Amino acid sequence: MSDAIQYELKGDIAILRANNPPVNALGYDVRIGLMTCMDRAETEAKAVLIVGGGRTFFAGADIKEFGKPPREPSLPDICTRIERSPLPVISSLHGTALGGGLEIALGTHYRIAIQSAKVGLPEVHLGLIPGAGGTQRLPRLVGVEKSIEIITSGRQVGAAEALELDLIDEVQEGDPEAIGLAYAQRILDAGKGPRAVGELPCPEVIDFDAAYDAAIKKGRGQIAPATAIRAIEVCCHTGFDVGIQSERQMFTDLLKTPQREGMIHAFFNERAVSKLPELKGVEPRALKAIGVIGGGTMGAGIAVAALLAGFDVTMVERDGAAAEAGTGRVSGILQGSVTRGKLSQAKYDAIMETEFRASDSYDALSNADLVIEAAFEEMGVKKAIFAELDRVCKKGAVLASNTSYLDVNEIAASTSRPADVLGLHFFSPAHVMKLLEVVVADQTAPEVVATGFALGKALRKIAVRSGVCDGFIGNRILKTYRTCADHMIMDGASPYEIDKAMTGFGFAMGPYEVADLAGLDIGWATRKRLAPTRDVHERVATYADKMCEAGNFGQKTGKGYYVYEAGKRGGTPNPDVTALIEAERADLGITPQNFTHEEIQRRYMCAMVNEAAMVVDESIARRPLDVDMVLLFGYGFPRHWGGPLKWADMQGLDGILADIKRYAEVDDFFWQPSALLERLVAAGKNFEDLNKGETV
Ligand code: 3HC
Repeated sequence: MSDAIQYELKGDIAILRANNPPVNALGYDVRIGLMTCMDRAETEAKAVLIVGGGRTFFAGADIKEFGKPPREPSLPDICTRIERSPLPVISSLHGTALGGGLEIALGTHYRIAIQSAKVGLPEVHLGLIPGAGGTQRLPRLVGVEKSIEIITSGRQVGAAEALELDLIDEVQEGDPEAIGLAYAQRILDAGKGPRAVGELPCPEVIDFDAAYDAAIKKGRGQIAPATAIRAIEVCCHTGFDVGIQSERQMFTDLLKTPQREGMIHAFFNERAVSKLPELKGVEPRALKAIGVIGGGTMGAGIAVAALLAGFDVTMVERDGAAAEAGTGRVSGILQGSVTRGKLSQAKYDAIMETEFRASDSYDALSNADLVIEAAFEEMGVKKAIFAELDRVCKKGAVLASNTSYLDVNEIAASTSRPADVLGLHFFSPAHVMKLLEVVVADQTAPEVVATGFALGKALRKIAVRSGVCDGFIGNRILKTYRTCADHMIMDGASPYEIDKAMTGFGFAMGPYEVADLAGLDIGWATRKRLAPTRDVHERVATYADKMCEAGNFGQKTGKGYYVYEAGKRGGTPNPDVTALIEAERADLGITPQNFTHEEIQRRYMCAMVNEAAMVVDESIARRPLDVDMVLLFGYGFPRHWGGPLKWADMQGLDGILADIKRYAEVDDFFWQPSALLERLVAAGKNFEDLNKGETV
């Protein structure tokens, strides 16, 4: 028999200790173990203590089992089994008691936790709802409003807050097993018996329809949070057993949805993406002192990210005034964190007094272990900076460029040490955005790549390996689907319909809202840069250039695709843009056609998938999952679709290829089907097969 649950009798108390590293997921062996050990405890003990061995209490159901045939005993049955035990059952929580883990704790009669423990029901992040009584027991303990907030956000609740909410009974410092045993003994000494949460009265009824509508709106197409509200509603109207059955039904229905599949793809691959086989055993270089070139928005964001991760940061700017401005940006961001209570004033003072400094001299970087250049996006500028870095940096220092498009091989060639050079492409605001593209040039040494990934981990970012090409993984794909959107505009769609269609798909913002936010001058500069080498067959719209020529760069100038009023969130469509588009269509003799939201979504996604497939085929991204994580963490791709290539798999690659070929009948320059997509369809395989290591 497996020892996934270790049993020990100490005096009158049976200890059931989880032993399923790393996170004590409630897989089949653990469930069997809990059932068997409960039976045994009831024959020889007077109380039961459930505790996690290792770093945590149970962190939830075993996610790897989802999508496979269910195996008895089920988690809800175990929770009920525990709750209906004639013995008092106590849980002692440490680490993270999440999902099924918290549901087990809610099934026990008394809950104690150490100060650092966190509890939560994060199932919505997996496209699910709590499925082992969470939606029925939590509201009975903490009320409906709080349960809705905890379950639909999936957030982790700290022990102190959990105590305040009566979700747990005690918080104590110490070893979880020792404090649990002492607590169990006190319960026995006081003659207290079992106390079932499931037997508490139904909680108060609220306006569930309003709560449901709000969850649908907030979830941007996600169904799990809204479904959780329906499950909680059941809890207010029916007895516990019916509630549990109803919750189970909703949970099993959600298990079958593509949203669950997409979310779980995201869960496992955000962890898998940084584990590169070629870096196994490669030691990263030590990192302590970091240099940042440039104190603009990007440089300041990178500096803050590094400072908050505990690095010592030196910023270099071209002159004293610019260094001062850069310091102001860093201190402004950090002050914001202090105001929001995320950073203590003492820590802020320590950072600004000793851990951060700005200079106008490259010599200040002589001790840096790694330097990130975040200067103006122009090859000449970058080359001059790297020549300086080559001069001042110590041997073994890693030299990184935050370029978003430029050729890292060319940058590396401007130094005498190309093996130490790589791209580290951050996304703005760099202290917030999770994605980091680690761009590996031809001569980048493996330990330098490993250092890039180590930095990503230290900054708590999702680091993804990219090869060198114009725009790397993310911006290259972005350019293609943005071009597709521009073509749809020329053919009859409005920017506002496209934004609406894509927010309807689940993006937080549409492409033209994003363009306004990022600044239209960025795209304008790129268009000008690429103009000399542009193919004559390429369709080019000029209305966007005209917007820029008129000084309308988006939010920062108050006008772009939208008009922005000071103090108001969001903008309203800019009628001047519509007029410019209509004039250009008339000039080109285009008769505008209607696009439904579905057509817009399909074309946009086909363009994204086709370019992404090329990026994989060219090994710019090593695996489809690398592309998926780039789009999820850097471009606002809706997590519940798992990423564009997971979405494509779920839609069916043959249909996507057929649509691309249909679009190519009208524009065979833009719509060139990816050879990889063709091979996958011919072989009856999909992107997930490539993730698993298959080839076509
Ligand atoms: N099932 C299976 N594997 C899990 C798991 C789970 N519930 N939780 C974590 N793991 C795996 C991870 O994939 C990772 O594997 P790897 O080393 O092969 O990459 C390993 O455990 C360690 O996880 P992390 O790297 O994430 O470790 P951290 O210390 O950073 O985080 C954690 C730990 C906070 C527990 C985090 O892993 C987490 O949030 N896990 C998911 C928790 C969750 O969603 N629970 C609910 C599950 S659904 C459920 O319970 C349904 C029920 O209501 C019926």
